[in-house]
Amino acid sequence: MNRTIIIGTVALLTALSPQTLWAQIYKDRHAPIEERVEDLLSCMTLEEKVLQLHQRTIGKNKNSNNIGEKIKDIPAGIGSLIYYEDWPEVRNDMQKKAMEESRLGIPIVFGYDAIHGYRTIYPIPLAQACAWNPSLAEKACAVSAREARMSGVDWTFSPMIDVARDPRWGRVAEGYGEDPYTNGVFAAASVRGYQGNKMDSKENVAACLKHYVGYGASEAGRDYVYTEISRQTLWDTYLPPYEMGVKAGAATVMSAFNDISGTPATAHPYALKEILKGQWAFDGVIVSDWAAVKQLVPQGFASSLKEASLKSIRAGLDIDMVSEGYLNHLAELVKEGSVPMEEVDEAVRRVLRLKFRLGLFERPYTPESSESERFLRPQDVAIAERLAEESMVLLKNKDNILPLTAGKRIALIGPMAKEQEALLGSWKGQGKAEDVTSIWEGMRKEIGEPDSLLLYAKGCDFEKEDESGFAEARAVAGKADIVVLCLGEKRSWSGENASRSTIALPNIQERLAEEMQKTGKPIVLLLSNGRPLELCRIEPLCDAILEIWQPGIAGGRPVAGILTGRINPSGKLAMTFPYSTGQIPVYYNRRGSARRHQGFYQDITSNPLYSFGYGLSYTTFEYGTPRATATTIGKDGTVTVGVEVTNTGQYDGTETVHWYVSDPYCSITRPLKELKYFEKQLIKAGETRKFHFHIDPLRDLGYVDGSGKRFVESGEYVISVGKEQIKIEVK
Ligand code: GLC
Repeated sequence: MNRTIIIGTVALLTALSPQTLWAQIYKDRHAPIEERVEDLLSCMTLEEKVLQLHQRTIGKNKNSNNIGEKIKDIPAGIGSLIYYEDWPEVRNDMQKKAMEESRLGIPIVFGYDAIHGYRTIYPIPLAQACAWNPSLAEKACAVSAREARMSGVDWTFSPMIDVARDPRWGRVAEGYGEDPYTNGVFAAASVRGYQGNKMDSKENVAACLKHYVGYGASEAGRDYVYTEISRQTLWDTYLPPYEMGVKAGAATVMSAFNDISGTPATAHPYALKEILKGQWAFDGVIVSDWAAVKQLVPQGFASSLKEASLKSIRAGLDIDMVSEGYLNHLAELVKEGSVPMEEVDEAVRRVLRLKFRLGLFERPYTPESSESERFLRPQDVAIAERLAEESMVLLKNKDNILPLTAGKRIALIGPMAKEQEALLGSWKGQGKAEDVTSIWEGMRKEIGEPDSLLLYAKGCDFEKEDESGFAEARAVAGKADIVVLCLGEKRSWSGENASRSTIALPNIQERLAEEMQKTGKPIVLLLSNGRPLELCRIEPLCDAILEIWQPGIAGGRPVAGILTGRINPSGKLAMTFPYSTGQIPVYYNRRGSARRHQGFYQDITSNPLYSFGYGLSYTTFEYGTPRATATTIGKDGTVTVGVEVTNTGQYDGTETVHWYVSDPYCSITRPLKELKYFEKQLIKAGETRKFHFHIDPLRDLGYVDGSGKRFVESGEYVISVGKEQIKIEVK
């Protein structure tokens, strides 16, 4: 190239402003994302940056706590919106305004709460945990992602992974139970399901780990309240699921409402900056929960929305969901020198990174599609049915009364028998009650004709005191060979802002059970609920109890399959059922008492009614003696423990083997036992299968201290599987 051209080119390049030169890069789909982010950021004004950190809503809104808005009121440069429509047109119209009316044409990212399905609704997450099938849960999340993305949603505010041990709290329904490891496994499975290998596909969405952190420790099960969490408990109980979710690549995290021992999670520098963005090197977006910035004022942590915004951005919160604190005060805070521009830039950087990763600059609009292309495909409904089947837990089966023998006349009694809405559970997304197969319909389809084999009476409502239906229920039961009693909770009794002072069913339902017991007919109790229940009075009245949870659209079909024996139940509890409300909190991974033989309640048992990990099958499994590849290992060694499990019954069955670790003596006291691995396999009648736990001492035997530092100490460890144990010495 001759000298003149070189000089000319250099002169031209020098003349171009950095913005102009760079401005070509953010639009270049082949340029590295980080370069595109920096280029675009360098072009933005402070006002444009602030809008990227502001989130509102658009479209009709179904969550009574939150209110929707219309396109005209929404600034073209807004960063994100919660999208309540279930079709893409409104989103595309709003996106067109963003792409064509804003100076830089930055696309909006649209979020929504698809917690356990978008339109094809799956069992509530607490139920999914009882299925112990993360790969199936991952498939369900992938379907939810596809339905959401095709409907205009790029980002789901899911999974909820708050360890919870107080079933008075309505939100236990939304998480994966009382165990940190279990919540972590399902967090990672959900992230894989939602985000896939590349978030910029037409069928993936960004995941959001929530509610960071410790929300499940809400005092007395009330919602939005104070949580007393020591640093030790923060690290050994509430943070582990988030660490597993971040390691799985979660794109976003949502800060929680709760006050963590004096510092609300939404403005918690240690949690947001030091741990999440620092130690874990999380490079995604932290969004607040609904109005959580504004709520710092009633929490007594800020005197104004401006101060709340200052504390939130400085703590590392990137997006302000609907408080309008960042919108109204952030620019002023920067101009007055209270907030360094670098901190605003870092938040905007993360938001832009998310949008590039989602492919929104290349594909800002959602292609149109028909409802039948989007929703309720047969293969997706089949996943819902399988997940529901595997999530149901057989709690009692006296004299093997189940499965029901053919030809029996069945009286389906109770307020849940023909109910559809309640089976969707809380956070039903775009789910519709008419999509749900009721227990009645499921039984009719399973048993087929003649109808004389299936009788029905409602008996009573879910609550109140009206016993006028009891007479009919008694009469119908009198004509039957067996009563299938269908009880449980309304959809609104669990989920957000749904705490209950007792976990017992309303009195009227218990009285209906007593009436049925007086008929002398055997009773199979079906429970559909969003939390563990107090069953100490009802349990003795029933011959069998099947916990069906809130199974989603599959509803009654898996129930009927289990009752008739087409399906062998395999669910195991991921959350303890207390004997009574008075025992709360009661959970498996508690610390040891100072006196193992004293300190019990004087008036009731101190044992729960059904423990974590409990669940019956129609067959029986026998565990062999566990064997280890070594019984003494070094701290950096490894060991594999194996066990053989034999199906000693007459039904093929699926068994989930839980592997627990106990560290009887440690510098920091440990729970009596901790779940560290689980595996599920089908074992045919008479067959024996092998299960293995590959132990990494630091990961599986070690513990964290109050700073998050992980240790493994020399000493003896006990590995428990089934009723068997084996000791491992770490040198
Ligand atoms: C709600 C919930 C949160 C949800 C958010 C957006 O208040 O706490 O789980 O994602 O607001 O709807």
